[in-house]
Amino acid sequence: MFKKEVYIDRRNRLREEVTSGVALILGNAEASYNYPANTYHFRQDSDFLYFFGLDLPDFVGVVDIDNHKDYIFANDVDIEDIIWMGPQPTVKDQAAGVGVENTAPYGDLKGFLNRVVKEGRKVHFLPFYRGDRVLQLQDLLGFLAGSVKDYVSEELIKAVVKLRSIKDEYEIAEIEKAVDIAYDMHTTAMKMCKPGVIEREIAGTMEGISLAQGGPVSFPIILTINGQTLHNHYHGNTLTEGRMMIADAGAETTMHYSSDITRTTPVGGKFSQRQKEVYEIVLEANMKAIEAIRPGVEYREIHFLAAKILTTGLKNLGLIKGDVDAAVAAGAHTLFQPHGLGHMMGIDVHDMEGLGENYVGYDEKTKRATEFGTAYLRLGRELQPGFVLTVEPGCYFIPELIDKWQKEGTCAEFIDFDKVNEYRNFGGIRIEDDVLVTETGNRVLGKPIPKTVEEIEAICAS
Ligand code: GLY
Ligand code: MN
Repeated sequence: MFKKEVYIDRRNRLREEVTSGVALILGNAEASYNYPANTYHFRQDSDFLYFFGLDLPDFVGVVDIDNHKDYIFANDVDIEDIIWMGPQPTVKDQAAGVGVENTAPYGDLKGFLNRVVKEGRKVHFLPFYRGDRVLQLQDLLGFLAGSVKDYVSEELIKAVVKLRSIKDEYEIAEIEKAVDIAYDMHTTAMKMCKPGVIEREIAGTMEGISLAQGGPVSFPIILTINGQTLHNHYHGNTLTEGRMMIADAGAETTMHYSSDITRTTPVGGKFSQRQKEVYEIVLEANMKAIEAIRPGVEYREIHFLAAKILTTGLKNLGLIKGDVDAAVAAGAHTLFQPHGLGHMMGIDVHDMEGLGENYVGYDEKTKRATEFGTAYLRLGRELQPGFVLTVEPGCYFIPELIDKWQKEGTCAEFIDFDKVNEYRNFGGIRIEDDVLVTETGNRVLGKPIPKTVEEIEAICAS
């Protein structure tokens, strides 16, 4: 946990952003895996962590906007719990640790909220991603289950996004810790990337490194010799010479801040000439995009800068033809990179995505595109100091997509399909770093993880 002043300040700033009423911040409950008592690893709700910091199930926080009071509703453990879990601090003591003086048993929450409603004050709550929330809100506020989502507070969403988007020094330090854990995960994966090894041996080792140094991985590891499948979670292939392994993986710290790093390593540790040629293009896109990050620039512009670098490189290899700007405007690059350049990162690896991607990545000025590929860009809006985001260009050869575009004649004036078909068994390359927007530019977070051809080959050989 951070010191209590951090949480007090966050809740005070929330009060400045919301006009009136109370903000109901629901912590998570345990979630069952395959029978009731066998639960998933507990993960606290990220908004609850942000405002109340306590990492235990069945806690609820309330920020009273009008009366300058904060509350924790939760039950103290009883002797049954102590027998199985050991003694626990009281709710009162835990709440004091995050600067909350008012506590009450969970059973008092419904009456408290009823009184707020009777006073004509609004109960603000955030969107939810777990089914039990619907039942909880139905019980607490009396909505019909099917209509709970209609009462989510847009005012609270916007306030929380505004606060959580700007990371303070403590949060940045945590994210850097998470990247440093990812350094160990990825350099280990590079050293293990040899013919005959099964993907799961590497993925499992990476996951263990994360658990041993902080918390679980920040999302299920993507590790595959079939990198052309963007979110490939199958880990059963045996690594073979001639393929490349994409490893897209990050850690959570004990405080639940994340990292999200991708590296691409040739199986056996040496890039072929063809692999190197494409790798250098993606690397240039990654590095030039990072260079361009500074306050005031729309991330969408940086996405298109990376798209132009990719398109220019592929034109030099003969896969794209014609004018580069016209090719990008037509979306020709999306055959090779059908995803966005990056997303916000923080307590969630796709930070605040549960609150609604468009609230996080777009605003009045910058609207989300609807075109194939660009529509997947999660962050488009103007950058501000304190944003932490990923930069993750890629180049993929997806046989099914190539066939579809060729058959339909999509972007045929810009794509040499005969040449592209020579690469149909190439796989994919992605290179991802985590970057802080500073007052004057940017800083790549954490210990630099090998990413040039020479650095990767050297690590593999070590
Ligand atoms: N690292 C996976 C993603 O950003 O979607
Ligand atoms: Mn990512």
